[in-house]
Amino acid sequence: ALRRAGNVHWQHLDVDKAARARIKGQSPRVLWFTGLSGAGKSTIANLVDKRLHSLGFHSFLLDGDNVRHGLNRDLGFTPEDRVENIRRVAEVAKLMTEAGLIVLVSFISPFRAERQMARERFGEGEFLEIFVDVPLDLAEQRDVKGLYRKARAGQIPNFTGIDSPYEAPEHPDLRLDAGSESPERLARRVLEKLGLA
Ligand code: PPS
Repeated sequence: ALRRAGNVHWQHLDVDKAARARIKGQSPRVLWFTGLSGAGKSTIANLVDKRLHSLGFHSFLLDGDNVRHGLNRDLGFTPEDRVENIRRVAEVAKLMTEAGLIVLVSFISPFRAERQMARERFGEGEFLEIFVDVPLDLAEQRDVKGLYRKARAGQIPNFTGIDSPYEAPEHPDLRLDAGSESPERLARRVLEKLGLA
């Protein structure tokens, strides 16, 4: 179980988030991409990140596969580990917005409650939940990384959509139809949502 350390007090920082963001001439944001494995989250997030960067914004992309190689290398795919995975990523995204950045987060983040907890860390309008929506059978058919095949063969326990749940967002800020539109078009829709396309 996680224990909270005692005698730890919050240290006030004189340079606040708005001041840090002002230097960048941008408003901090979190673009939280959620969806099944193979839905295209990382591809779309990368395209958006590239465009933001070329427009002169200071952005950063936190990607599940990458963060799991470092900060979260101790975590697997049980429900408990996914909850902790998302908790840490939400905290990192929070720190990054406090540094004034535009943060793109690309994790399956399968549980509604954890996505809600992530949202609650941020101010109104600062957090955008972007649902990269693809039917499971299509993700499985595409099987870009060959993981669905392995999961069906019983080689990957707790695989999202197979024997671990994915709770689709009911009211995402943006729903991307990744079953029929190209990553380029979908990235453009995100930029439009941000008023940048
Ligand atoms: S989660 O649910 O948010 O904690 O998952 P995330 O950190 O985004 O990691 C998902 C990537 O890990 C690979 N992988 C698995 N996914 C789902 N279930 C299981 N059991 C699993 N094992 C490994 C997979 O490559 C996921 O990458 P994406 O980019 O989503 O396909």
